[in-house]
Amino acid sequence: MKNIKIDTEFIDNQLSNNDLNDILGEAWEAFRTLTARTGAGNNFLGWIDLPETIQSQIADIRSDVARLAPEIDTFVVVGIGGSYLGARAAIEALSASQERAAGDESPHILYAGNTLSEDYYWQLMQQLDRCNYALAVISKSGTTTEPAIAFRIIKSHLEHKYGMAEAARRIIAVTDAQQGALHDIALQQGYRSYVIPDNVGGRFSVLSPVGLLPIAMAGHDIGQLVAGARDMRKLCLENSTVDNNPALHYAALRNLLYRKGLPVELLVNFEPALHYVSEWWKQLFGESEGKEGKGILPHSLCYTTDLHSMGQYVQDGRRMLFETVISVEAAHHHVDIPHDEQNLDGLSYLEKKSLTEINHQAERGTVMAHYAGGVPVIRIVLPTLDAYCLGQLLYFFELACGISGYMLRVNPFDQPGVEAYKRNMFQLLGKPGFGR
Ligand code: PA5
Repeated sequence: MKNIKIDTEFIDNQLSNNDLNDILGEAWEAFRTLTARTGAGNNFLGWIDLPETIQSQIADIRSDVARLAPEIDTFVVVGIGGSYLGARAAIEALSASQERAAGDESPHILYAGNTLSEDYYWQLMQQLDRCNYALAVISKSGTTTEPAIAFRIIKSHLEHKYGMAEAARRIIAVTDAQQGALHDIALQQGYRSYVIPDNVGGRFSVLSPVGLLPIAMAGHDIGQLVAGARDMRKLCLENSTVDNNPALHYAALRNLLYRKGLPVELLVNFEPALHYVSEWWKQLFGESEGKEGKGILPHSLCYTTDLHSMGQYVQDGRRMLFETVISVEAAHHHVDIPHDEQNLDGLSYLEKKSLTEINHQAERGTVMAHYAGGVPVIRIVLPTLDAYCLGQLLYFFELACGISGYMLRVNPFDQPGVEAYKRNMFQLLGKPGFGR
């Protein structure tokens, strides 16, 4: 079995055994509270069992994909926050893999509902004029302003382009089982629908139809994604001890570093395909932990690209950082460094090495330098970036987030702070019921 691992080589010397034992004991208590479902927000723990409970819906999702995908060249995913980032994270992370069969003509995925930019929508509509498309509209509440506006605009375009009945056949709604404007529209218009379970919050919903439908539509293997998550669940939840639970270790280490005066965690990678995994991770941890004046600030960088922009700060700037590196061991493809007799660029010493080997040495060199410069580094090592390993990684982060939130003594499953801007915006826009 290909398992993700945690490597603490570049953190060990900074932690005493006592510190470690204490924090692991605390993480164990938080883990017990989470899995006994007795802590704050325990009515939002459906994600813990999603790798098991979602099995029965995989066939339905695949049959919707089989019905729609051959007819279209483009699929628009309308959603924001937890109803968007998980799907995009997985789709982009898996886009470099070889899992898509040769000749696979899965639709190109476009995203909407994650911005209010007028120019963005003008360009999107120009693009959709030329595409043969269908769409998924995803919103748990069914009332979030950004996706609701995007859906109104694109639905109207779709209806003009294909007619009402055909447009309705091309729309899939993912929303609440009972309520919300989207639920009502879907019911009235007869859209194909999926339910977001009541007990699964947006940022923990990637392994529900919220994430799985778009990921499958993009041509990726959701069976393997869920299998990876299921195996990580098993590893962490069944016969778990303090020693064999990687999610507990990660939660413990980041809290220990936070308490030692490092309030910023940089999630870094050396694979550009992981950019949106970092965006998903930022929402997961930021929205779960940033409350009551507390929380580790999640930030992310893509190396080696950002070593040429932010590398100076990480190496020598204010010491408030620790780094978590997602390290991918094996690439999917091979690109030769060609022989050049003249060697004017001085690169011939690299000819016998693969780019992955060079990338790995860049990673090691970076980690050694940052560690020496006072930035402790946790490494999360993935054997490869395929659906199975990604499923493990997503579940690993979700579980670690639940444990870590309890260690910070906050409710990791609510998000009261995100309402503040909405109240002001609604008042400024004159929404009925939000008078000045
Ligand atoms: O994690 C969350 O709960 C949020 O990020 C939501 O997913 C986001 O606000 C979108 O909400 P909804 O799915 O209700 O449109």
